[in-house]
Amino acid sequence: MRILVVGNGGREHALCWAIGASPLCDALYCAPGNAGIADVATCVEVGVEDTAGLVDLARRERIDFVVVGPEGPLVAGLADRLAEAGIKVFGPSALAARLEGSKGFTKDLCRRHGIPTAAYERFTDLDAASAHVRRHGNAWKDTPIVVKADGLAAGKGVIVATSEAEAMAAIGDMLQGNRFGAAGSSVVIEEFMTGEEASFFALVDGENILPLVAAQDHKRVGDGDTGPNTGGMGAYSPAPCVTPEIAERILAEIVRPTVRAMAAEGAPYRGVLFAGVMLTPTGPKLIEYNCRFGDPETQVLMTRLKSDIVPALMATADGGLAHLDLRWHDQTALTVVMAARGYPDAPLKGSEIRGLDAASKVEGVAIFHAGTRRDGERVLANGGRVLNVTAMAPTVEEARRRAYAAIDLLDWPEGFCRRDIAWRALAAGG
Ligand code: AMP
Ligand code: GLY
Repeated sequence: MRILVVGNGGREHALCWAIGASPLCDALYCAPGNAGIADVATCVEVGVEDTAGLVDLARRERIDFVVVGPEGPLVAGLADRLAEAGIKVFGPSALAARLEGSKGFTKDLCRRHGIPTAAYERFTDLDAASAHVRRHGNAWKDTPIVVKADGLAAGKGVIVATSEAEAMAAIGDMLQGNRFGAAGSSVVIEEFMTGEEASFFALVDGENILPLVAAQDHKRVGDGDTGPNTGGMGAYSPAPCVTPEIAERILAEIVRPTVRAMAAEGAPYRGVLFAGVMLTPTGPKLIEYNCRFGDPETQVLMTRLKSDIVPALMATADGGLAHLDLRWHDQTALTVVMAARGYPDAPLKGSEIRGLDAASKVEGVAIFHAGTRRDGERVLANGGRVLNVTAMAPTVEEARRRAYAAIDLLDWPEGFCRRDIAWRALAAGG
């Protein structure tokens, strides 16, 4: 099969690495890819938002199967356009991708079908939203409220407000200001939930559900979960907090009813469904859905996956998941994100990264590129999150030791990482 992966991050490098290892894959392309992906796939300079360009590329290279990494193109209808062109695709239709593309859509779906999630209201009117914020009274200190832009906002559309002023500023920014564009013309204001967060993944073929292993991510930029939110600074799997019992509850109470509802409402979901869940004192509740693989969670999922991924991705697209099973390594996989100084606000671009060969030779380590480009022989930073140093080992401690040993062999003064990835798993005795 000739396969095209769409995207340019660490998630796509991990997907290309896994897909390229399949005996079913004869030729692998990636658009646009990055310096690391270029080692395992033919990279073609077509941007992820260029729907027509991607369809043309798939036709021109006689691609049999397209695997879409990021949410933007899916919400914009890339899977629909490829299907119309007769090309098989992994990734949901635009209608199904509303699960990520509109937070209000998902909240309303949860309400209609009794799916546990934070209590919420939706607003398009600033006065009504302001009045709602004021009704919160003086409870701020103990109970923040969460303000969310309805649409895609590159991970920046969620404000956990701990004062009335902060909540008012957030709704003003969204409903009146132009910081979020159309994505902010509607907001969700919701109850603050407490608990541990986990990333739960399932392949869904419209009807059948194949749960993958769970992972945990670290959203904040700094050690000890401090500083601004990011796309994710590191991840590990297994996630000790997602016990088999919790996984079954997430499936039964959140994922299955969602998949059934989407099919019943005429937008069957086909692709990977990524549920961000809060394990609250009263059970797992949905924080949000993503219509794609997690980044950096995919890096640890692909590392733990023993089975060939290609049949699973194909079965997801074809409606054949009922009889498919996947096998996983029992070991812990852990990835540490190395970001360019200044991330998440203003990452420094263009600095040279040295020592990649030595670092990738550490036992059990694979380095996925998240934001790099090649300049002759040199590899340069070309994004906020730049490298995902990933290790697998029999224990969390050893996986962590290996990842940081590799990082210490890198010569990249302009990069930084958190030094405490997987602290929760270690605290849990993992
Ligand atoms: P999201 O972009 O929806 O994943 O939100 C970003 C982060 O905000 C999540 O990973 C949570 O840490 C936090 N968050 C979102 N919604 C809530 C909520 N209702 N209660 C507590 N934290 C939340
Ligand atoms: N790591 C969280 C995400 O992919 O959205």
